[in-house]
Amino acid sequence: MPLIAILPGDGIGPEVTREARRVLERVGDFTFEEAPVGGAAYRETGHPLPEATLALARRSDAVLFGAIGDPEFEAIERSLRPEAALLGIRKELNLFANLRPAKLFAGLEDASSLRPEIARSIDVMIVRELTGDVYFGEKGHRKTPEGLREGHDLMRYDEREVERIARVGFETAMRRKKRLCSVDKANVLETSQLWRDVVIEVSADYPDVTLSHMYVDNAAMQLVRDPGQFDVIVTGNLFGDILSDQASMCAGSIGMLPSASLSGEGGRGMYEPIHGSAPDIAGQGKANPCAAILSAAMLLRYSLGMAAEADRIEAAVAKAITDGARTADLGGSLSTTAMAEAVLAALA
Ligand code: NAD
Ligand code: IPM
Ligand code: MN
Repeated sequence: MPLIAILPGDGIGPEVTREARRVLERVGDFTFEEAPVGGAAYRETGHPLPEATLALARRSDAVLFGAIGDPEFEAIERSLRPEAALLGIRKELNLFANLRPAKLFAGLEDASSLRPEIARSIDVMIVRELTGDVYFGEKGHRKTPEGLREGHDLMRYDEREVERIARVGFETAMRRKKRLCSVDKANVLETSQLWRDVVIEVSADYPDVTLSHMYVDNAAMQLVRDPGQFDVIVTGNLFGDILSDQASMCAGSIGMLPSASLSGEGGRGMYEPIHGSAPDIAGQGKANPCAAILSAAMLLRYSLGMAAEADRIEAAVAKAITDGARTADLGGSLSTTAMAEAVLAALA
């Protein structure tokens, strides 16, 4: 029986993974093991990513991750903050490819920040590089010679890192509408110039894919002007983080966007909503569980070869929404559990 590790984390993380687990239990037989991560783990063990949690992630067939982050830990040493656990798992498991699909579920036009006719056109897969860039470059703080405080974070990529994520971008485009837009800031950044050069080199292996390039500032603008122009976007870690949160509001809510983080080695991956621990609504039963439920569907599809069950879950979310189920972020009043129950009812 497949072993699914559940790392609920902080804030709304446990609230949404609980519901995603119920949906998984409805479509198949799995063994679940849970372990603490983030602030919750720090409170229990003194470290946000305990050895036992990482070991569980390594020996499981797939990881379902909730969210981490807790205002209580904003001022402690960076390596002990909740975020370090998430970055640590991504790095340790070599999960360099983060797939973030953003599409509008029919009926959510009113929840989008865009006019309905524009909102309806969004159906983009953002392929975000996840283990490099300014996130993992050398960082620090010091005093300048004049005694001013200075902080620095090195933005860097090597060509091997760019090549492998570019391939994921092209492969993803091959399975969709064969249009790939590489987003960078090559007019200013050396990192981006390397990125663009390597993406162009890799494109020679994918003659059927139409490749375009866009600067990230323009991409942010185009995403709200005409999101339908995008099929697949491939971009670096930081730009992908920002653009995917933006894309979520085109699609109605950050509570709707799942993600898959993959290593390309075998099927193992980690699956998580793109949102965080939402301290402002944590503990109130208000969180939208759909991003976590849809992440569970991606888990079935990408790690367990259960595409039919993944399709069923996605169809159930779509049906629950067309039937009118809405949490507060979507303009409704259902609780987290009631929203999940609407999805479960639609599954039946
Ligand atoms: P956030 O995504 O947690 O919340 C942003 C806004 O979206 C909030 O108003 C929140 O209530 C709302 N929101 C998020 N998820 C929702 C859901 N499922 N249903 C309804 N509303 C939802 O981002 P933030 O406030 O910038 O960060 C809070 C903490 O989360 C920070 O500690 C941050 O580092 C962390 N974080 C973690 C992850 C992760 O675990 N992958 C991702 C982003 C942020
Ligand atoms: C995300 C989050 C993380 C990121 C943070 C919490 C480290 O924003 O998963 O999108 O920046 O990657
Ligand atoms: Mn983010």
